[in-house]
Amino acid sequence: MPSSTVRWGTRLSLLAGGVAVVLSLQPHLFSQQAPLTFNDDTAQEVRTYCYQSVRATAADAELNNNNNNNCFSVSSKNGTFTRVFSSSSSARGREEEGGEENEIRKGHVLPGLWDGHGHLIQYGEFLHSADLFGADSPGEVRRRLRAYLGANPGVGTRESWARGIGWDQMVLGGMPFADMLEEDEVLRGKYFMLDRVDVHCTWVSRAVLDLLPEDLPEEVPGGEIVRTPGMGVFCDNAMDLVMALWPRPSKERKTAFVASAMRELHKVGLVGMHDAGVLPSDLAMYDEMSRTDDWTLRVYAMVECPERNTFCPGEAAKVEHPDGMLSVRSVKLFADGALGSWGSAMIEPYSDRPDTSGSLLVNASTLTSLAQSWSAAGFQVNIHAIGDLANRLAIDALEAALRDLCPDSPDLSACQARHRFRIEHSQIIHPADQKRMHAIGIIPSIQPTHATSDMAYAALRLGEERTRTEAYRMRSLLDIHPVLGSDFPVEPPSPFEGLYAAVTRKNPRTGSGPPGHEGGWQMEEALSLEQALDGFTRGAAWGGFMDGKAGVIQQGAFADWVVLDEEIGGVGAEGLRGLKVRETWVGGKRVYQREEESLVEAKEDL
Ligand SMILES: *[C@@H]1O[C@H](CO)[C@@H](O)[C@H](O)[C@H]1NC(C)=O
Ligand SMILES: *[C@@H]1O[C@H](CO)[C@@H](O)[C@H](O)[C@H]1NC(C)=O
Repeated sequence: MPSSTVRWGTRLSLLAGGVAVVLSLQPHLFSQQAPLTFNDDTAQEVRTYCYQSVRATAADAELNNNNNNNCFSVSSKNGTFTRVFSSSSSARGREEEGGEENEIRKGHVLPGLWDGHGHLIQYGEFLHSADLFGADSPGEVRRRLRAYLGANPGVGTRESWARGIGWDQMVLGGMPFADMLEEDEVLRGKYFMLDRVDVHCTWVSRAVLDLLPEDLPEEVPGGEIVRTPGMGVFCDNAMDLVMALWPRPSKERKTAFVASAMRELHKVGLVGMHDAGVLPSDLAMYDEMSRTDDWTLRVYAMVECPERNTFCPGEAAKVEHPDGMLSVRSVKLFADGALGSWGSAMIEPYSDRPDTSGSLLVNASTLTSLAQSWSAAGFQVNIHAIGDLANRLAIDALEAALRDLCPDSPDLSACQARHRFRIEHSQIIHPADQKRMHAIGIIPSIQPTHATSDMAYAALRLGEERTRTEAYRMRSLLDIHPVLGSDFPVEPPSPFEGLYAAVTRKNPRTGSGPPGHEGGWQMEEALSLEQALDGFTRGAAWGGFMDGKAGVIQQGAFADWVVLDEEIGGVGAEGLRGLKVRETWVGGKRVYQREEESLVEAKEDL
């Protein structure tokens, strides 16, 4: 997958030394914003902010119109917007806000952005892992792992395996294997577990292999033990063999992962995320952390049972914090694996591997009964489905669950609007099943950068016809509230890269489409900027039962916003991918401020 080169650049090397320092700065950042300190001025209950422009919703156009609202007030008691208004009516505003001057702050405001599908702990772990994205030779992998061990003393032991992520056999020039790491004397004998770019395979070192039983099964249902050119790679269900031996990070370490992840996510304008699969034990940790000042990102978490694709309601308490910082009311089920490793379940065989049509991780009857059980227990059901067979079975399962929930309703779409079942990824869907999704209103949860990362090989896997009629729909799904996201750490979390990919259908890292489609791939499925922004704001809010509260700047909504240097509608499609966030605010508190010479000067200018 040549498109994945330099996904992450030097981000990780920066972080290796930076995490501890920046984390210790964070409380300082907050104390500046703490509303109830020192004097009357900061103790006021309502604070008012005016900017050069405020885009209250994705579609809020004509921003340069004088009648447009560019100010809002925020309750510091409950962190919601109390009023949205225009500075041209500020005489009235001043009176109401107790004489406060509504100075115009530099910058242009968007509603707080959401990632509709990501993995918080894994992203944090990624930030603390070896970065193998774009590594294009075994030597390059070894060089990066040596550097990683150098920067992380004590890692690589039996108690604390070294983790990495981002390798891809297509970039690497061949499938890796355990002994590839033994050639280097620094790496030799160390414990490594290195995830493929799509996290559907893991590559382990000789030391880890030696912990596995001698009599590994020949076949693993729903998975694969790769044996050529040598042992070392385990895919999908076969990863469980390795995971069973992996010494889990301690709670302290996971807490550090979460804190690092939140800090990085705020930098790209995210105020919230849908966490697509969290174990009950981690949810307990979230619940604890969410009551502290370290928890600065809104998290809508989907429960994932310790044993995948099971029913574990006893371990899955629903959570709904009134301040909207943590919500748990949904479950994640998994129908299949990923396209890159031929793991997605297809109705017809792969075009480039006619011997296989991928594999399901669960059979149709189990998937349906799980959807029924979870929805009867009051959970939103969200099913991972990539291949067209997986999507078909997911729709079958969700439809059956809706019929159970609303037995007297001839119109399942009204029932679905209340329960909001989702298909995570919704990547390759047979035209007949696309019709069913539209009819019922099943929510597609889509990652625009997956389309632009996969476009280089999608047509090889799927053939021309399936690619054209089934793959990576976006515009044609607009009527059923698509939720947009990135699937971080599989893709970088920046919603601006996602917006760029959705609008241009080009790779945000290269600025180009695949060969033959340099100007953009499947442009008939591209979104407008407003439509794409909607997916990262109100679409995510709808899919997380926060419509009217999140992704919008209006009275009563969570006071979350993002400040950019420029009005997003004015930067042009190419400008989207380079956009830098000035500030990110969550619940009326500033959680990120870009520290740059230019910004400091700009502030002094005001
Ligand atoms: C939040 O507090 C403000 C006053 O500070 C009040 O007007 C508003 O109704 C409150 N909103 C909610 C959702 O409690
Ligand atoms: C589906 O899988 C379940 C659990 O693995 C098994 O008990 C059941 O027999 C399977 N059903 C069919 C129709 O294969």
